[in-house]
Amino acid sequence: MTPPGTSGGRLAIVPGSFDPLTNGHVDIVLRSAQLFDRVTVSVLVNAEKTPLFTAAERVAMIREVFSAHANIDVDRFDGLLVEYARRQGACAIVRGIRAVSDFEHEFQMTLMNRHLEPALETVFMMPAEQYTYVSSRLTKEVFRLGGSVHGLVPPVVERWMQAKQATAVRNEKTAIGLQGE
Ligand code: PNS
Repeated sequence: MTPPGTSGGRLAIVPGSFDPLTNGHVDIVLRSAQLFDRVTVSVLVNAEKTPLFTAAERVAMIREVFSAHANIDVDRFDGLLVEYARRQGACAIVRGIRAVSDFEHEFQMTLMNRHLEPALETVFMMPAEQYTYVSSRLTKEVFRLGGSVHGLVPPVVERWMQAKQATAVRNEKTAIGLQGE
């Protein structure tokens, strides 16, 4: 396997918002790393107006999750995915498909990307079945409503989420304290 940062080997980009990275994402990234020489997990900057984590936080925690994998790199991108993939020298984009409901949107994005850059292939992979119901959106909803996200996200991400919650509670207490003054 060729380590990231070198120009050798076939590079695949696994793009996404990853707000937050779920165990389903991890499953897809690890499968990609077995098929391609190098994989870059690329975090879309400014995907949502009010993300749970900043792009820098998402990159940091994803780096931590894949730190033991020499052929998995983590990066951030802005603008057109195909332009970014071309600059990186990638031969493919990898996307996970969990259910038929994912298909229509992914199909449209793939054909648009192919229209923009015919040489770039999109490869679809299915995660292990225990992750077919796991999404960042639902994970965030469960978390915001006080439910447990254990088993839905990697332990590293769970710790970051708990830290985020502790900060939010502290800020709220400070705000209430200030209001009372
Ligand atoms: O995790 P997500 O939110 O499903 O990822 C979506 C992503 C990042 C793959 C998609 O929004 C994207 O590629 N954005 C970059 C903008 C772009 O290239 N748009 C035109 C092609 S459809």
